Parts: sequence; C-alpha cells; structure tokens
Amino acid sequence: MPQTVKGVIARSKGAEVELVDVVVPDPGPGEAVVQVQSCGVCHTDLHYREGGINDEYPFLLGHEAAGVVEAVGEGVTEVAPGDFVILNWRAVCGQCRACAKGKPWYCFNTHNAKQRMTLEDGTELSPALGIGAFIEKTLVAAGQCTKVDPGADAAAVGLLGCGVMAGFGAAVNTGGVGRGDSVAVIGCGGVGNAAIAGAVLAGATTVVAVDVDDRKLEGARSFGATHTVNGKDEDVVERIRELTGGFGADVVVEAVGRPETYEQAFYARDLAGTVVLVGVPTPDKEVTLPMIEVFGRGGALKSSWYGDCLPSRDFPMLVDLYRQGRFDLDAFVSERIGLGDVEAAFHKMERGEVLRSVVVL
Ligand SMILES: NC(=O)c1ccc[n+]([C@@H]2O[C@H](COP(=O)([O-])OP(=O)(O)OC[C@H]3O[C@@H](n4cnc5c(N)ncnc54)[C@H](O)[C@@H]3O)[C@@H](O)[C@H]2O)c1
Ligand SMILES: [Zn+2]
Ligand SMILES: [Zn+2]
Repeated sequence: MPQTVKGVIARSKGAEVELVDVVVPDPGPGEAVVQVQSCGVCHTDLHYREGGINDEYPFLLGHEAAGVVEAVGEGVTEVAPGDFVILNWRAVCGQCRACAKGKPWYCFNTHNAKQRMTLEDGTELSPALGIGAFIEKTLVAAGQCTKVDPGADAAAVGLLGCGVMAGFGAAVNTGGVGRGDSVAVIGCGGVGNAAIAGAVLAGATTVVAVDVDDRKLEGARSFGATHTVNGKDEDVVERIRELTGGFGADVVVEAVGRPETYEQAFYARDLAGTVVLVGVPTPDKEVTLPMIEVFGRGGALKSSWYGDCLPSRDFPMLVDLYRQGRFDLDAFVSERIGLGDVEAAFHKMERGEVLRSVVVL
C-alpha cells in the first residue's frame, strides 16, 4: 500500500518551501523505501529551489541523508529491511563505458527509483539529486543505499551522503592530495571544510583556507587549516603564493562555484598543480582564461562529481574514521532541526551562520 507522509517541496522558482503530504509508492523491482532519520541542508537544495539546476518543479528537496531500510522490492540483494544506510545520489550501473573501464566513480549511467513520489493530486515530484529526503520516508533505487555501522549518529554520518563526501573526495580522490602537499581550499562551507579535513588526513602540511567570512575561517582552523585568508580584505592569489614559498599550492579546491573564485584557484596553484572544481556553478556562469596560461601552467584542471567517490568503498571507511575519532563529523552539525524548519535553515546558510543544519526525524 502506498503511504502518505510529510515532505518538504519547492513548488516554483524562489518560492518558500512547503511541508506537504507526499505519496510514497511501495518499492518496485530494484527499489527500497527508507525511513529517513536525518537529512542535512546542502547549498544544492537551495540551488534547486532557485531554479539553478533545472526547472522540473515541484522538487522534493533534501539529499544528505541516513536512515533505516523499511522495505525492499523484488530482486534487491544489496540491502534488507532494518539495515542502517547512508543514501547516495550516484548508484553505479556496473555496465556503462566508465564502469567497464574500471572507473565506476565516473559511471555515466547512474540510476534512481523508477517510480515517482507524488503529491496527493498525482503531481509527480522531482526528488533532489534523485533522493528527496526532507521527508519521513523516501523511495530510492536500492543501489543508492550503503549499509554502514548502525552505532553511528545518523545526523553526523548522513552528511557523508553529499557535501562532506564531495569535499573530502575533491581533495583526496580527485585532487590526489598526499603527504607533504600544499593545499588551498576556496569556500569553507560544509564542502570546503570537508576538503580541508580530507587534505589534513591525507598528510598535507600546508592547508590554506579561503573565505569571505571570518566565522567560516575560524571554523576552518578547527578542521586543520594551517593558514586562513579573507578574500574580502586580501589578494587571495598573492597570499596563497606567499604561504607556499612563492610558488602556489599543489592542489587548489574551489568549493564555491563562481567564476572569480575559479580564476583565483587557477592562478593560485603551482606549476603543474591541480585545480579541483567541486563548487557547482549556475548555468549562466562563464570563465575566460588566457589560453597561453592554460598551456604554460601545465597540470590539471579537474571537476569533482561527488568527490569521485564510490559509496560502497568510501562511506564505511569514513564512518570508521569517524568512530575512531579521526574525522570529526560531529563538527559539521551546527544545529538539529525539524522538517518545518528548512526554509529558515536556508536563510541561516545564506547568512553564513551554519555549516550544516540537519533535519532530524
Ligand atoms: N561537486 C559536488 O558533487 C557537490 C556536492 C555538494 C555540494 N556542491 C557544491 O559545493 C558548493 C559549496 O557547498 P556548501 O554546502 O559548502 O555551501 P555553503 O554555502 O555552506 O558554503 C559556501 C562558502 O563559500 C563562501 N564564499 C562565498 N563567496 C566566496 C568568495 N567569493 N570567496 C571565498 N569564499 C566564498 C561562503 O562564505 C561559504 O562559507 C556549492 O556550490 C554546492 O552546490 C558540490
Ligand atoms: Zn556505469
Ligand atoms: Zn548536497
């Protein structure tokens, strides 16, 4: 029997989010219904609300979640009812050309549930990143569920479902940060701070945090940044060069998604260094770079989809590091809120007051 539960939707561009009744179908073949226990408020949810991703309104928001599998459909073997899982938005297909080449983190054919959750009048909802987890129960593809240690706090480990994994992986997987590297991270929200924490765990010795908000820079220090630069008062490229022996950083992670910060990242890296773009630009943004500089500086200009993670490999590993006290996921949880508080959480995020507001159910 389909169930009717409360969920948070964005009905139209820029409109305040609403808590409404949502109909969740029983899981079909390859699908699972998950009782959501926690879901972080990510900047990407706000991008959806503002029409920055696409215009397939109404959106069912929320995608940084952990919960317990309630029911599974036919043919599901990965997870079973009662499993504690973190949801991911890139369920790998195992068959596309990226998967066939042994690079499943690039999978070009990731999938979500085939059935749609709807409003009571039958209007189909577009779940954010194929998840939609600001809701009591959600329907996902079983491959979007990764079973992890049930002893972990859902509010903390649920954040691995998006921003923290994206940031950590941007530094460690995409950027390939290693022992002794110098790293700069531009934008110290949930994503940027996770990149800082990842760089520190990977052995980086100089970790420069850049933001335009001193509160964020203070937070970045607690995640292990060795230096901070406020882009409002200082020349970001010059400061990063000064702090890296005059050369620039081996890896610069851009975690804002704006042309001006991307250009800073481009010029703030050392020769043959790597730029990792993990911030998501809106479709109207453009960058212009002198081609001779693109050539002459060498190295790599990379993008990081979801931190180039493999949930089945990376989520349990990061939960282990968290449980061992080596990766402070609790520090990302600024506040615990209810389903009715998502709109207010967006405003707190815009004002820079929180790293992550986490809806707890
Ligand atoms: N690639 C992925 O898979 C992936 C996954 C999750 C989120 N993201 C994206 O990562 C970005 C960051 O997400 P978040 O949740 O951390 O957002 P956030 O709003 O919490 O953090 C953004 C930070 O950037 C800072 N900032 C803004 N303008 C700046 C500037 N000019 N210079 C320096 N800092 C500046 C803000 O003060 C803030 O601290 C977003 O674009 C989000 O959509 C990407
Ligand atoms: Zn694939
Ligand atoms: Zn996200």
